[in-house]
Amino acid sequence: MLTSLQAEKLRELENSWSLEYDRLVRLSGKDRLNLDLSRGKPSPEQLELSNLLANNLEPNELISSSGIDTRNYGELSGIPEAKCLGAAIMGVPADEIIAAGNSSLTLMYITLSTALKKGLWGDKRKWDNSTSPKVLAPVPGYDRHFAMSEFFDLQMINIDYTAQSLDVDQIKQFVSQDISIKAIWCVPKYGNPTGITLPDETVEFIADLPNIAAADDFVVLWDNAYAVHDLSPRMDKLASIRDVALKKGTLDHIVQFASTSKITFAGAGVGFLSASDKVRSEILKYLSILTVGPDKVNQLRHARFLDNKLETHMSAHADILRPKFDLVSKILEEELSDLAIADWTKPKGGYFVSFNVMDGLAREIVHLAKDVGLTLTPAGATFPYGIDSKDRNIRIAPTFAKLSELESAMKVLTLCTKLASARKILNQG
Ligand SMILES: Cc1ncc(COP(=O)(O)O)c(C=O)c1O
Repeated sequence: MLTSLQAEKLRELENSWSLEYDRLVRLSGKDRLNLDLSRGKPSPEQLELSNLLANNLEPNELISSSGIDTRNYGELSGIPEAKCLGAAIMGVPADEIIAAGNSSLTLMYITLSTALKKGLWGDKRKWDNSTSPKVLAPVPGYDRHFAMSEFFDLQMINIDYTAQSLDVDQIKQFVSQDISIKAIWCVPKYGNPTGITLPDETVEFIADLPNIAAADDFVVLWDNAYAVHDLSPRMDKLASIRDVALKKGTLDHIVQFASTSKITFAGAGVGFLSASDKVRSEILKYLSILTVGPDKVNQLRHARFLDNKLETHMSAHADILRPKFDLVSKILEEELSDLAIADWTKPKGGYFVSFNVMDGLAREIVHLAKDVGLTLTPAGATFPYGIDSKDRNIRIAPTFAKLSELESAMKVLTLCTKLASARKILNQG
């Protein structure tokens, strides 16, 4: 443990880490490091897996199996084949799906906008009736959920994760007592960045929240972005929130999201939303103002390309990603496990590793890394308003980098962590 070392030994270590760090700072020109662990993007190698998408429709194949001409306007909620694909990814019936646009974030935006301006149920309820609508934000979480909430002036309230789940007592207290709390963000499987998959009892608890909420217009925003993104066959299993909600009578208050962004092409995929008939019908009204219909050619391309091969396709992604996550784990273990100055997650899927350093050091470490050529996700990004009150969480995104770059990047990250920690302990001493 670094904290229990004699001061002299600690100074010796700090000195050797400083020398190594200074050597990296001095590298210049083509020798200077240029590494990036901030991008939660598929690597070029992963994108190659879907290259056939780009030209897999012959001119005579542009009519969907139900006779829809994908080249023309219409079919606002998507073509049946795309809904079936969404159903396979999300584990819900195809007729409860809207397939639209190239991204789930757009569908989240439309949902929030509808909930605020018009309401999701075709009655008088809408969040704009409240003077200060609020949303619960599990932390650490996904920065774009936070940016979107802020954009809509939805005040965010942090909710803590426990080791394996969410702090349900905290959630219950807020939701049951405060009528201005209108929603909760959840990334239920392989959370960004925690990697946590919510256990069955938490899924059941969340599905029941609309029943205990003080607000009668409470909504669960279930962003299942990593529904099929397992790294190994020993994958996490997520209970179906739809099935529980049906039993509890809360389906009108659950909106689920997913996309093919990290299945085929990020940016040229298909977005999916699933909700009850009532809620979908309100969302479609809003959608009809935005567009005369989605890109059905791309939907058909996706449906044909992934037909009967979603599982093998995702396991090809896993074969590319697993060595990267294993390498991150190995280097963190080798460099830091004896020192007790950080902890980190070992996710079985998803896109991130959540790395917690000593309180007050995340910003410093991100800064030290930047100065030697390693870009990390800004400290604080995983918290609403960019405020990590303990300044300790750093999100590691290992998917995009090549293995060789990842190794160098992790060596730099662990070096900066050791250096900042040793300096902190010496200063306290
Ligand atoms: C939790 C989560 N939701 C949504 C997205 C973005 O999805 P899309 O590309 O479908 O908008 C991401 C991307 O990193 C994510 O991590």
